[in-house]
Amino acid sequence: MSVIRISDAKNHVDKEATIQGWMYNKRGSGKIYFLQLRDGSGLMQAVAFKGDTPDDVMETADKLTAESSVKVTGKITQHPKHDDVFEMQISGIEIIHQPTDEYPISKKEHGPEFLLDNRHLWLRSSKQWAIQRVRNTVINATYDYFNQNGFIKIDSPILTPNACEGTTELFEIEYFDEGSAYLSQSGQLYLEAAVMSHGRVFDFGPVFRAEKSKTRRHLTEFWMMDAEMLCDHEENLKIQEELICHIIKKVLEVNQKELTILERDTEPLKKIKAPFIRKTHADVVEELRGMGSDIQPDHDLGGDDETILTKKYDQPIFVEKYPAEVKAFYMKRDPEDDSRALCADLLAPEGYGEIIGGSQREDDYDVLIGRIKEHKLDPKVFEWYLDLRKYGSMPHSGFGYGLERITGWICGTQHIRETIPFPRMINRIKP
Ligand code: 4AD
Ligand code: MG
Repeated sequence: MSVIRISDAKNHVDKEATIQGWMYNKRGSGKIYFLQLRDGSGLMQAVAFKGDTPDDVMETADKLTAESSVKVTGKITQHPKHDDVFEMQISGIEIIHQPTDEYPISKKEHGPEFLLDNRHLWLRSSKQWAIQRVRNTVINATYDYFNQNGFIKIDSPILTPNACEGTTELFEIEYFDEGSAYLSQSGQLYLEAAVMSHGRVFDFGPVFRAEKSKTRRHLTEFWMMDAEMLCDHEENLKIQEELICHIIKKVLEVNQKELTILERDTEPLKKIKAPFIRKTHADVVEELRGMGSDIQPDHDLGGDDETILTKKYDQPIFVEKYPAEVKAFYMKRDPEDDSRALCADLLAPEGYGEIIGGSQREDDYDVLIGRIKEHKLDPKVFEWYLDLRKYGSMPHSGFGYGLERITGWICGTQHIRETIPFPRMINRIKP
């Protein structure tokens, strides 16, 4: 009997087939069993009735425990009420492996620490399965968008000699006789070199932040996509809008089943449409103070500020022109107000907050070297980066998104730790 994938069941209606997978769940006893099978491609109910199903097969069904790996054979039938739901009428069960202990994750409520300790098993649970599939679509949609728009993928290094985003959040390692090296916080600086070769570039890989933050939005290792283009601030925002709209459209197209499993209300996602809301940092500070926040005009937005602001709107919000002191050294200043950066963070609605950070880059050699010194960084390690302003400098801008933040928003998860297969946080490195 040929093994089929559950996702392909529609092509086997009224035929005998075999599903190879795991028994996810079981109901019934003695006279009837409903086995919920999973094989990686989906979930399917398989039914065994006393009388229709051979007695020895009923006995095997009775023995099955959660996460037994099995080959189950039977006729595929269409659900009488739902066109896209298929079932199997069981005629045979072969046990491949029966768990030697009771499976630790059951239907009852487990605490988050227990689930995270068992992450290697938790990944099999249907919600976790759904989240990883949405994450996969976000990745694919990102590649689609860049490939369709003339971007070249450039792989930035992970071991770096300097900070990109700030020295307080660096993981430091000893690097042979070269002294200290640091795990990359963002590939941006390297993309700035590559953009002078290709015009439009992006990278996609793991980055590291030794941040002491213990919030639902922070990981110490996460996946960032950085993009860099020969363009100004305005066009930078336009590209971000197009990319985000493309990602949302793709997930709605490809992952209906997953979003249903996640009980995600898709109406807010369907509403997302460019142009997004744009507000200056100064206006946002006033708005937030009116809502009860104690944010000061020269402060960065706090997590709670982002939450209350983005709960108020149903579109993503670009917050532009932050005070330059709270942002990185490489940002160009606003030509209309030198105390402000020509930058924007993109905040996702429904309380999710920052998903993208971006800016136009300082392209003048003398100004940039001044900024490096103001930030108490060593101009020596930035020599190569300064060279980009020495040999045919060109206006350029870029942005970086956090894959887990975007996936968390789209899936509607409480905490972004569920959106990465094996989360790393200040208090967790295992499994
Ligand atoms: O805003 P950030 O720090 O910007 C940069 O690193 C720029 N160099 C990017 C660029 O312009 N190419 O980080 C970018 C995004 C944030 O908007 C957020 O989505 C995510 O990365 N991020 C985190 N995600 C999870 N855990 C953390 N600790 C994160 N820190 C930032
Ligand atoms: Mg940021």
